[in-house]
Amino acid sequence: MFPLLALGFLVAGVAAVTAGSSSCIGTISSLDDVSNAVQCTTVNINAFTVPAGKTFELQLLDGTTVNVLGEIQFGNMSWAGPLFNVQGNDITFNGNNQRWDGGGPFYWDGQGANAGMTKPRPMMHIAISGTLNDVYVVNSPAHVFSVQNPGPLTISGVTVDDSQGNYPNSRSGNSAAAHNTDGFDVGSSNLIIQNRFVHPLDDCLAIGMGTNITFANNYCEGGHGISIGSISSNAVVSDIEISGNHVVSSAYSFRIKTDASATNGVVKNVKYTANTATNCTYYGVLITQARSYPSNMGTPGNGVTISDISFTSGTTSLKANSGAYRVAVNCGSGSCTGNWDWSGLETSGGKPGSIINNNVITGFTQ
Ligand SMILES: *[C@@H]1O[C@H](CO)[C@@H](O)[C@H](O)[C@H]1NC(C)=O
Ligand SMILES: *[C@@H]1O[C@H](CO)[C@@H](O)[C@H](O)[C@H]1NC(C)=O
Ligand SMILES: *[C@@H]1O[C@H](CO)[C@@H](O)[C@H](O)[C@H]1NC(C)=O
Repeated sequence: MFPLLALGFLVAGVAAVTAGSSSCIGTISSLDDVSNAVQCTTVNINAFTVPAGKTFELQLLDGTTVNVLGEIQFGNMSWAGPLFNVQGNDITFNGNNQRWDGGGPFYWDGQGANAGMTKPRPMMHIAISGTLNDVYVVNSPAHVFSVQNPGPLTISGVTVDDSQGNYPNSRSGNSAAAHNTDGFDVGSSNLIIQNRFVHPLDDCLAIGMGTNITFANNYCEGGHGISIGSISSNAVVSDIEISGNHVVSSAYSFRIKTDASATNGVVKNVKYTANTATNCTYYGVLITQARSYPSNMGTPGNGVTISDISFTSGTTSLKANSGAYRVAVNCGSGSCTGNWDWSGLETSGGKPGSIINNNVITGFTQ
């Protein structure tokens, strides 16, 4: 036993002693530790502050387990980011609910990602396959997670809390200080996002492209709800399941939006099952081919085909507050097709929206 133990200590103490012995434990307590630590297939991250203007970059060996053991902060500085970038295959990333603090109040000027101070974004760029669990993010400068997984990935138990940005500050006038703080921007396939709490101030989830994506049992409060799009030319989104989520006090609850001028795009086979939405403040369900926010019901294009959108097998119940539209659908001529079984959608409150160029919805009337 003794020699084995001694060897264990040696390897743990000095990460990546020899090439090829990756079963060591790498420890990161500053950016200086990263290059050695990522030679090991176990990487422990202690609390530390990433210097301003630097990306915390983890290029991991296949099969690595990451354990986050303390709070990660980022120095404040106006720059493009991202703040964190992790890449690798078959990774087990255990966030352990340690906080990642993006320093939001330093950046928030009410103007979001495209104006005002340059804000590092995304805060968290995730390009791993495997699992990502219990990551707790507060105060993102702008967009929170951007996910581009190279293989199957399951994200569970993530918390995003940008609620502090809901209030105006001295730079934002009367508007909320934070803006464009999307929870999850997804542009990849074979992804499950489940059991998370998001208090974003923009989209809780936005899928720009990808196939085989499940978004299940999440809680989204405030912001712009669960969104597919905007879909631009040639983008394909297919085989999406949105189930068991709670969308609370959001401007939109369930939305699909395609650019009016986009061509050759596809949104296909989206299933909404057993979700709830309460206190919908603008639109409960909005499917529009006129992505011209805020004129959601503008002139639609028909260069993107939207087909097989269902609310079935498990009731999705939606309560709109007074003044909000329960359901609005704005299709281009001939571009909403296939089977739209909406027999599982129950709505109440608010007022009906228009349903334009869509005669394929069945099982639902306003
Ligand atoms: C960045 O600024 C924010 C807002 O003032 C503050 O909460 C955070 O602690 C700062 N981060 C660091 C690393 O100093
Ligand atoms: C769909 O994605 C999940 C999660 O990543 C994966 O486990 C599953 O194999 C994928 N299904 C197909 C048909 O690729
Ligand atoms: C409804 O949502 C709005 C916007 O998020 C929020 O300001 C308001 O407090 C919510 N009302 C209730 C009763 O939750």
